[in-house]
Amino acid sequence: MENRVMEILNTKYPMIQAPMTWITDAKLVAAVSNAGGLGVLGPNAGQDTLTSDPKETAERMRNEIRKTKELTNNSFAVNIISGGEERDKDNPYVIEIMKVALEENVKYFAVIGPEVNKNLFDTIKEHNGVIIFRPITPTPGIMREAEKAGADLLVATGYDEGGGLPSKALGTFTLVPTMVDSVNIPVLAAGGINDARGVKAALALGAEGVYIGTRFIATQEAPSSMETKEAIVRSGHEDMQFIGSGLRSIVTKQSEMIKEKYENNEDTSREVSGGFRIGMLEGRLDEGIVSVNTGIDIIKDIPTVEELIERLFENYKN
Ligand SMILES: Cc1cc2nc3c(=O)[nH]c(=O)nc-3n(C[C@H](O)[C@H](O)[C@H](O)COP(=O)(O)O)c2cc1C
Repeated sequence: MENRVMEILNTKYPMIQAPMTWITDAKLVAAVSNAGGLGVLGPNAGQDTLTSDPKETAERMRNEIRKTKELTNNSFAVNIISGGEERDKDNPYVIEIMKVALEENVKYFAVIGPEVNKNLFDTIKEHNGVIIFRPITPTPGIMREAEKAGADLLVATGYDEGGGLPSKALGTFTLVPTMVDSVNIPVLAAGGINDARGVKAALALGAEGVYIGTRFIATQEAPSSMETKEAIVRSGHEDMQFIGSGLRSIVTKQSEMIKEKYENNEDTSREVSGGFRIGMLEGRLDEGIVSVNTGIDIIKDIPTVEELIERLFENYKN
């Protein structure tokens, strides 16, 4: 039988490259889609400055969508950061980015959020789109609700992941079989998958595909600076610290400062959001943060995207 994820995504492998804000730009996304996975453009794809104008943000996304289409004929997705039905109603970022994505005929949407936004799902379905839904904190209840609301694929993210963490500290091994058993549509595993062993384990747990973020930062095509990529290669889990209740970073001067502020109950949101760009895109490690998964000990090199995907799926038999 064909793998359902490959069928839905129209890809060679059952793999989605997870969106990672500044890092997942047209070049990386197209490289993933050309190598047999589904690339996903993140919110600040292709940018090195922030704009607070939602229309400008959406126009920048339009450019990046067009660039991606120039670089690949294969399917790719756009990331939508949903706050749930009530909050999305007047969230100009969701409204403008959805408008542009639909105008540009994007068919695949990687939606993340704390809850299901049925209206958003309906809009995507009206345009014959495919919904990949990743609840921030996976539970059987939200998985079933998303399935009922029309999601095509679900992502179960374990606490091992890089980026913002789920509110429950359940590891990928615990979470994936539980989520797989709660729905009938395919589930992809996310969180700590960095090599072919991780892919095999995810499939053994019942996932029908994998959703991989951190590992793609240390590739040739990622726009992250070489300093950031090399920091990932030389670091391990012992070099990481919590800098908030839902975020880890490789230890840097700035992460130490953020941790201290967090422990004093001070607001760190500005330092955190700025820190991603400074630490992960620009590579000024002392002044930024580097958010990655807990499995980075096994990331030992900086391959091309194609080499990496071939390695992840070595001996893969559908
Ligand atoms: C640096 C970084 C930035 C991220 N930014 C986003 C984002 O903008 N949107 C999103 O949906 N998820 C974001 N994530 C989460 C990833 O999409 C994905 O869930 C996670 O990376 C999967 O786990 P892994 O890193 O262990 O492979 C980010 C993750 C990282 C590591």
